[in-house]
Amino acid sequence: MHHYERDGLRVSQIGVGCYGLSGAYGAKDRAEFARVLRHAHDLGVTFFDTASAYGDAEEFLGSVIRDFRDDVCLATKVGLAGQGAISDLSPEAIRASCDLSLRRLGTDYIDLYQVHYDDPRAAVAEVVSTFESLKAAGKIRAWGVSHLPPDRVREYCTVGRPFSVMMELSAAARDAVRTRLPICKNHDVAAIAFSVTARGLLTGAIKRGHVFEPGDIRSYDPLFQREQFESGLRVAARLATLAERHRKTPAQVGIAWVLSQPQVVCALTGPSTVLHLEENLGATDWRLPQDDLDDLRAFLDGEDHWLAQEQLKSVCAILEGELSSDIEKAFVDMAYVLETAVTVSVLTEEVVVPMFGALMAARKKDRSTGLEDMRRLQQQLREEFNCSGLHK
Ligand SMILES: NC(=O)c1ccc[n+]([C@@H]2O[C@H](COP(=O)([O-])OP(=O)(O)OC[C@H]3O[C@@H](n4cnc5c(N)ncnc54)[C@H](OP(=O)(O)O)[C@@H]3O)[C@@H](O)[C@H]2O)c1
Repeated sequence: MHHYERDGLRVSQIGVGCYGLSGAYGAKDRAEFARVLRHAHDLGVTFFDTASAYGDAEEFLGSVIRDFRDDVCLATKVGLAGQGAISDLSPEAIRASCDLSLRRLGTDYIDLYQVHYDDPRAAVAEVVSTFESLKAAGKIRAWGVSHLPPDRVREYCTVGRPFSVMMELSAAARDAVRTRLPICKNHDVAAIAFSVTARGLLTGAIKRGHVFEPGDIRSYDPLFQREQFESGLRVAARLATLAERHRKTPAQVGIAWVLSQPQVVCALTGPSTVLHLEENLGATDWRLPQDDLDDLRAFLDGEDHWLAQEQLKSVCAILEGELSSDIEKAFVDMAYVLETAVTVSVLTEEVVVPMFGALMAARKKDRSTGLEDMRRLQQQLREEFNCSGLHK
């Protein structure tokens, strides 16, 4: 497997992440997860990612990799206390969070320390300078940014010199190709792609009508709703056809597509079984032929075009209709509207992130207050989308 080396860090083309340990994708067998991490190391994976916000994943990862700590590039994140919580990137919060992560990981240094979510109150120059001081103190070896709006990514790349930008990127969630990869290219910064199998969607394991376990974020994840899901299933079917042609699996073709994107140095996967890990690693040392990449690009362009139209129709139907009296359904619909607002460029991520925080908070309230808050958000977004103008 190829490794990307820079600033003393060695990042394998396929990385393994620990988000699944938080329960986001349902309950996982932790003994098997530990085997995945050890086996990944045996097979040449050097990039292991976690976050302070993934439950006890830092402790878990730290304890499993203890025997081969110095062989790996250990990445974690700062700036999110928990689901829906507001990010705090003040110098004090970053330093305190770093010390806590070091303790939980059971290590003296973090290889890659990343901003998880943006804190709009924090000045980028101050965050960068805090990271640089942690570097000088030997607590971290490099820093990077993760789930940030594109403008903020650009600012970090201009003000400082991040090692990497982490972003969601798969053949079913392609926004980063347009928004973030060009920034990485301009600033010569490595891109690390996450959710490269589209949280399992592109592996063929998830079919129409799939029912997720309670608590699985995919039950409200926009990728698994409405036309996005329909389009994702078509993409999965297309990858399956290519897979058959090349004697690969759909997951391998999907990961190879991610690795074919300029600037991407690592496809970060989240398997919780050795079987899935080994399958995903089969995407390396092989490339999708250029003809197939060209065909795929034309096909995905068509999907983008179709999606842009269908999503607008869907969003306007949600905004102009009555919100469901079932708070969970109302939440899923409003989450869909918010994400779509960004993809169709009606609102920027900077504007949407606090709205998403408010939506998460409304979901936790009692039913009637929560629904009231969601209706207010619906009203606000109706004005932003100007659906009546679209019908003309
Ligand atoms: N910076 C951020 O904000 C952010 C956000 C999300 C993720 N990440 C990082 O990126 C890592 C990877 O993201 P992810 O976990 O969403 O990646 P992912 O691999 O696209 O999604 C994981 C899901 O896909 C399934 N899966 C993976 N490989 C499979 C295969 N070959 N066959 C069938 N199912 C397969 C897993 O099922 P099984 O459990 O059954 O294997 C799991 O349900 C995370 O763990 C985290 O470290 C960062």
